[in-house]
Amino acid sequence: MILPILIHPDPRLKKLCSPVEAVDDDARALGNAMLATMYDAPGVGLAAPQVGKLKRLFVMDCADKEEDPAPMVLINPTVLWSSEDETTHEEGCLSIPGMYEDVTRPAEVKVAFWDMDGAEREEHFTGLWSRCAQHEIDHLDGVLFIDYLSRMKKSMITKKMQKLKKERASA
Ligand code: NI
Repeated sequence: MILPILIHPDPRLKKLCSPVEAVDDDARALGNAMLATMYDAPGVGLAAPQVGKLKRLFVMDCADKEEDPAPMVLINPTVLWSSEDETTHEEGCLSIPGMYEDVTRPAEVKVAFWDMDGAEREEHFTGLWSRCAQHEIDHLDGVLFIDYLSRMKKSMITKKMQKLKKERASA
């Protein structure tokens, strides 16, 4: 099932999401639908609030195009450690289509989470995986990548998105 993706600005993208209480059939169905939605978009990450579910869950697959797909569903993720080393790289977001800006973040993170079997796991992420995990965890706290930009840049992007939403609504 492909879920509709919310476009910024939307109050649901600014909420603090609540923990997933159990990895049950509902949580697994949401994880699978979000993976399908992410691949369809296409994107490398998608957080539950982007499909209107205010739960602490996100999906990602940052495997190279030449590699096999490596879908991940991370439930109740917490950052255990971030490197002092930072990197700056262009980011985009399925809720802010067509907009790409540089964001500086810790280069590496260690994240604890539950997987789709309800098992507790820890992963050390580097490169694009690390950037994507941090971007998606931000979503669970109501934070968007444009929140790291200057107020002027952010308001310019928000106006573009308002216009896009108006165009889509009248199409
Ligand atoms: Ni995003």
